[in-house]
Amino acid sequence: MGVKAREIVGKDADRIVKLLNGALADEWLAYYQYWVGSLVVRGPMRPDVQKELKEHADDEFKHANMLADRIVKLGGTPLLNPSDWLKHSKYGYDEPKDAHVLKILRQNIEGEQCAIEAYSNILKVAMDAKDFSTFNMVRKILDDEIGHEQDLQDLENDIKLIGK
Ligand SMILES: [Fe+2]
Ligand SMILES: [Fe+2]
Repeated sequence: MGVKAREIVGKDADRIVKLLNGALADEWLAYYQYWVGSLVVRGPMRPDVQKELKEHADDEFKHANMLADRIVKLGGTPLLNPSDWLKHSKYGYDEPKDAHVLKILRQNIEGEQCAIEAYSNILKVAMDAKDFSTFNMVRKILDDEIGHEQDLQDLENDIKLIGK
């Protein structure tokens, strides 16, 4: 960060880095949950569900990259050890023990709802800190999470309509 940017964001940078590292942990866990879910999922409309889960996994990976990049620009260090992910995660990991499509979709919908809540909060903090670069990045991520929730809900609704 340059001199002027640090002057504006400086005092809040540590707080923002901490929040972004929490989000980074959640993104990695979300990435893995989608990725492994796409491999084990079973049930109606499996190919459609797998495709959606894989797409979301890719998006969560992109989000992790965006967050880590911003953390570095703010002068922070992205979490260096996967063992930190669960420690820093706000929402933890929901193991897809039951591989039925409806169970996996529900778990991931709830994950997206947590993400929407978390990013909405970070957005407010970034706005108050006048950290507009973080604000713009988080707004993009939040748009994706809102889309993810919608995509999964549509699939869930369609599957529930089968045979009706
Ligand atoms: Fe994400
Ligand atoms: Fe997502």
